[in-house]
Amino acid sequence: MTDHAIAPPAIPPHGPQPENIPAENTSADTPPVIPATKYGKVVLAPMVRSGQLATRLLSLKYGADIVWGPETIDKSLIGCERVENPKTGCVDYVRTGLIFRACPSREKSKFIFQMGTAAPDTAVAAAKIVAQDVSGIDVNSGCPKPFSTHAGMGAALLKDIPRLLSILTALVENVGLSTPYALPISVKIRLLPTVEETHALITSLCKTGISKLTLHCRTPPMRPGERAIRDALSGAAKICEEAGVEFFVNGDIKGWDDAQQVIKEYGIEGGAMIAIAAESNPSCFIPNHLGGPKPWREVVTEYMLIAMSVENPISNTKFCLLNMVPGKNEMHKVLSKAKTYRDLCEALDLECTFPEELDLGTLKTQRVKAQEEKDAQLQAERAERQKKLAEFKRKKAEAEGGKKEGEGSNKRIKVDVGERSNTTTAAVAELAATDMLLPGGAAEPVQAAV
Ligand SMILES: Cc1cc2nc3c(=O)[nH]c(=O)nc-3n(C[C@H](O)[C@H](O)[C@H](O)COP(=O)(O)O)c2cc1C
Repeated sequence: MTDHAIAPPAIPPHGPQPENIPAENTSADTPPVIPATKYGKVVLAPMVRSGQLATRLLSLKYGADIVWGPETIDKSLIGCERVENPKTGCVDYVRTGLIFRACPSREKSKFIFQMGTAAPDTAVAAAKIVAQDVSGIDVNSGCPKPFSTHAGMGAALLKDIPRLLSILTALVENVGLSTPYALPISVKIRLLPTVEETHALITSLCKTGISKLTLHCRTPPMRPGERAIRDALSGAAKICEEAGVEFFVNGDIKGWDDAQQVIKEYGIEGGAMIAIAAESNPSCFIPNHLGGPKPWREVVTEYMLIAMSVENPISNTKFCLLNMVPGKNEMHKVLSKAKTYRDLCEALDLECTFPEELDLGTLKTQRVKAQEEKDAQLQAERAERQKKLAEFKRKKAEAEGGKKEGEGSNKRIKVDVGERSNTTTAAVAELAATDMLLPGGAAEPVQAAV
């Protein structure tokens, strides 16, 4: 890579800090206001788990020009309730659990919502649901993980280009810039096997009316640690520039200064997107001429303050902190055992301002909550079965004319309703076939299946 000297800007290329974003920027009618500079933009990549609200706000604080949210599946949003939290200023999209949290007053003008989708109608429906809280809609067309591809989403769309084009066209026509929603539509893709195929795809994508395109310079089978391939980059940037589509390069970019070098070397008009480097240090958005990335101790303190201010779920806070604290550091071990915000604060030597009543509540992830509900239901069912069996035994004893318990035809069968096993099911069925005759001759409707 060529070494390009970059002169410090007269005015820092960073837009307003999240806390200072003027209220008028947050109106749904106003297109996103992103300060134009002679530097390329440097933006936070979409990252499941790592790219949740607290990371986005911290990245903005450190100068990210735009932040992408983690991929959210369109169908999971449909049917969500939108709940405002006046205390934190956040907005939650909730179904049985929290699907997605945004903070319009602190991020909206720079926040792009990324969705996983496989169909135009669900993509449009989901986009309309979040429209008032975001500044753009992005379609993930690069995720190679089976949970995405098996449902026809992510990188599967690279194998079904007509479908990808129809999704983008539908979004442009229904929620795009020329509609009342006025949202720029974008797509994030990976490389196809050849440069020619990649360029042909980008040419087609640009014709759908999208506003932005990100090229992750790896093919779908490539692993995150593999070196990004940049031979399609200049051509891709040129195609987008000619089509009036803002182009972002992604893959192996370490920070603001590295981003500017790549932008310059490959003639990119738009900007560069950073994932893993920002996951481990969101201050990588600070240019060297403004002091450069900050030490991790400072970063984790800032992160905690933001996380507490938005009541970030503790499981996510802990996950993100563990990515920021070096694995070899003693603090990493202490953090990994933390169960509450109080524990995290103690490990980081911070005063905990997180409300006690929320500390354990937020510990419950959606999965934990779902498991608890399932357990409660099973317990209720078990109690009901026990009640019915006791009732059956009582009636049976009456029918046998006062035979002592343990005597008679059921003494061979021991039924433990607490056991959810086939043996139990078979035993109860056998009981039903032999002994379950009630005084009137009718079988007791015991639910044998468990
Ligand atoms: C933890 C993690 C989660 C990711 N989640 C998403 C996602 O939700 N959507 C997406 O398009 N890419 C996702 N990616 C891929 C990144 O956006 C990015 O394309 C990739 O990491 C390459 O950038 P890098 O070399 O700067 O890490 C994820 C990557 C990581 C590390």
